[in-house]
Amino acid sequence: MKQKSMPRITAHRGASGNAPENTIAAIELAAAEGAEWIEVDVNVSSDGIPVLHHDDDLDRCTDGQGLVIELSMAELAQLDTGSWFSKRYRGERIATLDDCLNLCESLNLGINLEIKPCSGWEIPTTDQIAAVLHRRHTLPNMVISSFSHAALLRAAEKIEFIPRASLFLVAPPDWQQLTEEVSAINLHLQDNTLLEKSTIDEFHRAGLGVYCYTVNTIEDAQVLFAQGVDGVFSNYPKLLIDAGLD
Ligand code: G3P
Ligand code: MG
Repeated sequence: MKQKSMPRITAHRGASGNAPENTIAAIELAAAEGAEWIEVDVNVSSDGIPVLHHDDDLDRCTDGQGLVIELSMAELAQLDTGSWFSKRYRGERIATLDDCLNLCESLNLGINLEIKPCSGWEIPTTDQIAAVLHRRHTLPNMVISSFSHAALLRAAEKIEFIPRASLFLVAPPDWQQLTEEVSAINLHLQDNTLLEKSTIDEFHRAGLGVYCYTVNTIEDAQVLFAQGVDGVFSNYPKLLIDAGLD
């Protein structure tokens, strides 16, 4: 599948600085703010439905409790994932991966899909995501990323037609071997303005794009771009786009 690469600015968890993260509202806002791609975190319900949610548990971002993997889709669908952010978003529902794909196709948004499994569920979560992606006739431009090397290995096997990105806080000493094992096209690294240009050059020489999260100020983005980073993930895409950094 011919893929477009990620742009310089990706909306992190949607435009999550101004709308509840990983929701339809945050994705719509990202598009309205001019973002071309979003990043979302994808976990799975107890009955195998991939859903957008960052944390293993439901406590911080919903009015429910427990682990995402412990609740069925019918139970997750009852939860409010907007009120914690603002009463303006009261009643916002947990989005399924299918909801997200439909919306991104209609808004012409690319997706950095981060596989975010509950601990121990790396393989089944990846398999359920693969099943959704295989069922669809068309897909947006996408990259699949994960902190879980096991999930990326599985994605390389089951969803080989979507490019992969290795995701780290800091690139480990064996980054080259790990990225090669999953045929990654990118490294996604935590925002660290101490990341040296020579290191970024080394990643580039290995054929990898270099993207940083989570970059929420113009100054940090400018430093990273000056060092050669290819793109940043931001909760405030409009801030960076309006500053002409896209
Ligand atoms: O995918 C980049 C970034 O989202 C990874 O960290 O915790 O925000 O999912 P986190
Ligand atoms: Mg993420």
